[in-house]
Amino acid sequence: MRAIIFTILAVLLLPLFLLGFLIFSWRIRRVCIPQNISGTANEPYGGRLYMHVAGTRPDEAGYKMAWHLPSYGGIARLLMIDTLGLACKISGYKWSVFSYPGPRPSSMATSISHRSYFFDDSVKEILFRSANPATQFVVLGSGFDTRCYDLPEGAEIKCFEVDMAPTLNAKKRALQLAGIAHDHVTFVETDFNQEAWMEALQDSGFNPNLTTYILWEGVTMYLVEEAVRDTLNLIATLPAGSAAGMDFFSRDLIEGNPPYEKMSKAMHRTISFYSENLQFGIATGENLSDGLEELLKESELTLTRFEYIGSLEDKKPPYYFFSLIEKH
Ligand SMILES: C[S@@+](CC[C@H](N)C(=O)[O-])C[C@H]1O[C@@H](n2cnc3c(N)ncnc32)[C@H](O)[C@@H]1O
Repeated sequence: MRAIIFTILAVLLLPLFLLGFLIFSWRIRRVCIPQNISGTANEPYGGRLYMHVAGTRPDEAGYKMAWHLPSYGGIARLLMIDTLGLACKISGYKWSVFSYPGPRPSSMATSISHRSYFFDDSVKEILFRSANPATQFVVLGSGFDTRCYDLPEGAEIKCFEVDMAPTLNAKKRALQLAGIAHDHVTFVETDFNQEAWMEALQDSGFNPNLTTYILWEGVTMYLVEEAVRDTLNLIATLPAGSAAGMDFFSRDLIEGNPPYEKMSKAMHRTISFYSENLQFGIATGENLSDGLEELLKESELTLTRFEYIGSLEDKKPPYYFFSLIEKH
């Protein structure tokens, strides 16, 4: 019954949603891209906003911030996000796309929920474990991530957000306008493809001798391989107990090798809408983690947790991986 009420409401609200989608898309092309504000940052962020309004994964800071961003700001959030939230609230129906932590095996439709849960869990584990917890939290390629604004009160954790200047500036402005406290976060501007972010971090007060958790979510696929390797080598210079959470697409998906020819084309086309490029993927091998283990050999980091979207029984083997990597 709940599903039926939700569907009726969703159909009634569809024109408003489509209008919101048009406004959002226009703003991406005409406002964000010309200013070099990341467009792809809106994709996972949108997924988290839907989980918030569906009541499955609270993200109050993200929700408030959206109102002031050039993409979702004002009317776009209202029409695209709040309408579906209203349908969920009235019907009491939790559509699996908005579920959290979501079903396992997960699917493309529930990939953001699986991804959010994997990284939420690893952040919690590394920052709040009893032995050698991380006291620095670095969000690399932070986009519109809000985990720094959701830490328990009194947590003595130094927070850093690293991204390119236009995206960071849009975010800082939105945080300010939304009245979200962000004095505890140091914003560091960099381009992973051009420079060593660790130097920029250290210039901003980062202490390379403290146990650190690096969240590098949704970024490796946009970089060249050298930038990914350099980052792993920098993480390897941190003290034992430091860890990094990162996700990877498979090389076969990026290169469009069988059986991903069509899917690869569609993904490259979607990302080109944002004027960005998918560039890096990991080899898989007999065990899906073989390629990642190989990549980690140079930096001598250890893969401690590995999950993927989909199942080995699927027609197309898994192509999207989540990993927790630690310095021992
Ligand atoms: C898909 S978004 C992910 C954002 C965020 N981590 C999340 O999961 O919501 C990718 C982010 O990486 C940043 N990024 C991409 N390439 C970068 C580069 N070369 N240097 C610095 N940041 C980069 C983008 O600006 C964007 O904010």
